[in-house]
Amino acid sequence: MGWRQMTLDDLKSVMEIADKVHPNLPESEHVFAERVTTFPEGCLVLLDNEKETLIVGYTISHPIRHRQPPALDGPMLKGRLDPLAVDQYYIHDLAILRDWRGFGFATEGLAVIAKVADRYPTTCLISVYGTEPFWRLFGFQQPPGGIDAALSDKVKGYGEDAVFLEGRAFGEASMTSSIFNINNKKYYH
Ligand SMILES: CC(C)(COP(=O)(O)OP(=O)(O)OC[C@H]1O[C@@H](n2cnc3c(N)ncnc32)[C@H](O)[C@@H]1OP(=O)(O)O)[C@@H](O)C(=O)NCCC(=O)NCCS
Repeated sequence: MGWRQMTLDDLKSVMEIADKVHPNLPESEHVFAERVTTFPEGCLVLLDNEKETLIVGYTISHPIRHRQPPALDGPMLKGRLDPLAVDQYYIHDLAILRDWRGFGFATEGLAVIAKVADRYPTTCLISVYGTEPFWRLFGFQQPPGGIDAALSDKVKGYGEDAVFLEGRAFGEASMTSSIFNINNKKYYH
């Protein structure tokens, strides 16, 4: 079934996946809830192809002020998404359960997100678990001029191996050729 927009009803499953994939980077359910309600376009869940109610991955993303991502587990986005103030897109999290990795699902999810991210001049993220080579496939790299101390401190909050990456247009936007609604839920195909 692929990716569809996340709803508050999905949060229990999303939290279970987050606990499995990020045991050392915990975030509270109210932080997830706030991102889903504040910027639903950037929050997706991945559904199993056969068991269509089974959520097997998710991504959380939203606009930010240039190089000012929220710290892990907060603070809240509310009041920080003024369209005049935000000027960069931020991929906060992309997590797929182990058994569903290696099938191109991350690439498909990023193609959906790319359509939203392309409204902003650049996109950034904090890469963890040595995934920089994965993100490089989508054009992300460490800024050649480095980052300031405040951002560097924030990045360290994600662990010693965390690195800040930035890129421009990414993904194959043509892959998300259709969006359809079922029971008021938005699916991507
Ligand atoms: C990283 C992750 C999202 C990739 O998901 P996936 O569905 O397996 O990715 P895809 O199948 O779309 O792979 C796309 C490409 O990335 C490559 N790739 C996947 N994981 C990689 C990694 N950790 N390092 C380098 N390359 C990687 C694949 O080989 C594939 O390359 P190809 O197109 O040349 O064959 C998934 O492994 C995951 O959830 N990991 C745990 C959480 C995590 O690390 N999230 C990112 C943190 S910032």
